[in-house]
Amino acid sequence: MKLRVLVFTIAAIIITSCGGEGKKEEKVAAPVEEQKAVVETDPMKDKGVGPITSITLGEIDQKMAEEGKAVFLANCSACHKISKRVVGPALMGVTERRTPEWIMNMILNPERMVAENPIAKALLAEYLAPMANQHLTEAEARLILEYFRTKTSATDE
Ligand code: HEC
Repeated sequence: MKLRVLVFTIAAIIITSCGGEGKKEEKVAAPVEEQKAVVETDPMKDKGVGPITSITLGEIDQKMAEEGKAVFLANCSACHKISKRVVGPALMGVTERRTPEWIMNMILNPERMVAENPIAKALLAEYLAPMANQHLTEAEARLILEYFRTKTSATDE
């Protein structure tokens, strides 16, 4: 008789200590909160993920911008227009909402950007089609950046 009571008591203790379901749910929810926090941080401080970690910009170089326009028209215009949303976002003023590093990393490394960067992830969720990697060189991506610098809210096209 005494032994049965003991077995019951032990069983009860084991069952009670396994009831951690509520705690597990809390742990699953945490990363989502963290992501939200990152999205709410200043996009003009986000450099993205990829080969470009730091760029210093000088005055706009019109010759580079012209060359960048040609690279853009050849590689990007199937999905992007400057002043109108198509498959991807309109790129007018993109240098005013993203850092130069983020823009170049989006061009050179879109697969990891949409997988890991909170801003790019949010864009993918909105536009649904993933941005294609056009396998440009860093120099070509830099020319496109220069072209984008000439397409700000202060210009028109
Ligand atoms: C197959 C279509 C496609 C091609 C080609 C493409 N993009 Fe994109 N791009 C997108 C989409 C769609 C997005 C939004 C993010 C997503 O859904 O992946 C995007 C996002 C971007 C962004 C971020 C815009 C913002 O508002 O922050 C930049 C910058 C950009 N693309 C530049 C380029 C450049 C430069 C090229 C050419 C080298 C290019 N894209 C080629 C589809 C494309």
